[in-house]
Order: sequence, then structure tokens, then C-alpha cells
Amino acid sequence: MSVIRSAVIGCGAYLPAKVMTNDDLAKLVDTSDEWITERTGIRRRHFVGEGEKTSDLALKAANAALADAGITAADIDIVIVATTTPDDTFPSTATKVQAQLGMTRGAAFDVQAVCSGFIYGLSIADGLIRTGQARTVLLIGAETMSRLLDWTDRGTCVLFGDGAGAVVLRAGEGEGGNHDRGILNTKIYSDGRLGNLLYTDGGVSSTGTAGKLRMLGREVFKHAVTNIAAAIEASTQAAGLSTTDIDWFVPHQANQRILEGTARKLSIPAAKLVSTVAEHGNTSAASVPLALVTAVKDGRIKRGDLLLLEAMGAGFTWGAALIRW
Ligand code: ACO
Repeated sequence: MSVIRSAVIGCGAYLPAKVMTNDDLAKLVDTSDEWITERTGIRRRHFVGEGEKTSDLALKAANAALADAGITAADIDIVIVATTTPDDTFPSTATKVQAQLGMTRGAAFDVQAVCSGFIYGLSIADGLIRTGQARTVLLIGAETMSRLLDWTDRGTCVLFGDGAGAVVLRAGEGEGGNHDRGILNTKIYSDGRLGNLLYTDGGVSSTGTAGKLRMLGREVFKHAVTNIAAAIEASTQAAGLSTTDIDWFVPHQANQRILEGTARKLSIPAAKLVSTVAEHGNTSAASVPLALVTAVKDGRIKRGDLLLLEAMGAGFTWGAALIRW
């Protein structure tokens, strides 16, 4: 049976120039390189400079992905930006990127699922492609988390960073089996009852400000591994596969301990785990594509490999995606 599949035909990423090491942060709050490295695996993060916005990072990642795919903005039908740190309340960051790319057709919109935004975006893009509403989708995860951080809260300000990653998805043909190139399936979930564990203490219709990030880290940690593992099992089972079939595990880069805990729970060997959290911290919706692009560019991920992507974030939201590269 012939089916439409969404194949990733190009990818690119961008990290802002300003780097903050753990030692740099220790000058701002009562923390240490030792504490941050031991508890999180994070060594440094990138922050935007003055006036640098989420759309600036998104545009740079988008241009890199388009060049990698060998296409131009004129070939794109839809732009999706997964972000929880839009430039402005409206218009969407995606429409800004659309304009900056010189695109005068198609549609552009943002997806707000915090750290799971890229997985949600993959699910939406795949749906648009498989139902014939789009042939080519540009999906970007871009964040300026530094704008949401409370620099007096050492429990959160050491964890996050800024950045962007993008993929170009294009309709292709498959046979309907798990050897097809492209997205084999996506699974997305949320549980709004857990919203009080990770949130901003402000918003447009509550305080009229963006607010600052607040988190009960230990509670978030408890839910993370269980929820992610359940999504992964649902995804692999739906494809008639098991976690032993996976070539590369590309998780949301929140905390090295969560990454390793999830890999262990699912019997995924550490050698198959793509971890970039040391280099950029938790960049929310940008983290999965940042890790993905790193492993593609350094030659680890090759055509035909089976990739398992996952994320979990505020909401709670979480999900997984299985991709044949
Ligand atoms: N430097 C030094 N000490 C610190 C720091 C810091 N930056 N932050 C907290 N501490 C102290 C606390 O004050 C506390 O001190 P006390 O015992 O004297 O009260 C002690 O360290 C332990 O604090 P905990 O919060 O219990 O530390 P924990 O071991 O749970 O680690 C962490 C905290 C790293 C936040 C962990 O809970 C975590 O990673 N949680 C997951 C959060 C996450 O990744 N969220 C991202 C979004 S959701 C997602 O992406 C999955």
C-alpha cells in the first residue's frame, strides 16, 4: 500500500554568540560549577544579546535548514515555530520568520507546548503533510528562555539557555511499513492538572507581563522519566518495533540525569543517547532539534537510521516521535 510519509530533507541550528559558563553564573547566584555539573550535566549555555529576539534565532536556524535541504523559501507551504518565548504576544513569531524569509504565500503559526513544542510541531507537520494540505513544512524550535529567568532563583536560572533548531519536512512516498523513510508516528499527551509544577508567574490576561519561570524541580523530575517512557513505549509499539531497534535516542535536553534515567528504563545503551545538554542547557522547544542537528552534522545519524525523539515540559505536555532518517 502506498502512503504519504513526511521525510526530513534538511536541518540546521543556531546558538547565540554569548556563552555563560557555570563559573560565570556562580558570580551571579550562590551556586558552583560542581553543583550544576553533578546535578544536571550542564556546563555552559548561550544567551541572546541585547535586542536579539526569538525570531532572529529562528531565522538563522531556518536558513541553515533550507540550505541543507537545497531549497528556498519559495518552496515552503507552511512555517511552524514551536516557542514559549515569542517576540511579542502577537503577531506570531512564525509570521515574522515568514516575512523575513521573503515568503509571500502559505501559512505560518506558532505552537505553544513549552519543552514539548518541537514534538507537537512534528505531529502537526506530519498531519498536514499526510492529509495533503502541505507538501513542504519548515518546523523550527526557537527560544529565548533567558528572558523568563529570575536571576535571584538559583534553582532555575542555572538550568536554561537560548537557541534554535529547524527541520524541513517534505512529502514522500512509503509502503506503510516501518522501513519507510520519514516520520513513522508521533505520540503527544498532556495533563493540565500538573500545571502548577512548572509555570510562569505572569501572562497576558493575568498580570499583563510575561512573568518569570517557576518550578518545583524535584516534582518535575519524578514525572519526567515515567511520562517519557510511556510515550516512547506507545510510539515503538504502534510501529511494531521495540526500543532495541532504535539507532539513535534524541531526547529533550533538560538534565543529563533525566536523559540517562530514561535510557536506562528503556534499555537503550548509553552509546545511542545523543546528549548536548552540557553545551546549551535546557533550551525548551529548541533542544530536540539542537541535539538532532549536532548528531547529523557530526556524522553519527545516517540515512536509514531509526531515531527516537522525545520531550516533556510544562503543562505537563510530553510526547515522542519515531523517524526513519
Ligand atoms: N546551586 C547550588 N545549590 C542549589 C542550586 C544551585 N543552582 N539550586 C538548588 N540548590 C540547593 C537547594 O537550595 C537545596 O538546598 P537545601 O537542601 O539546603 O534546601 C539543594 O540544592 C537540593 O535542592 P533540590 O531542588 O532538591 O535538588 P535536586 O537534586 O532535585 O536538583 C534540579 C534540582 C536539578 C532542578 C532537579 O530537580 C531537576 O533537574 N529537575 C527537573 C527539572 C527540569 O529539568 N525541568 C525542565 C523542564 S521539564 C523538563 O524538561 C523535563
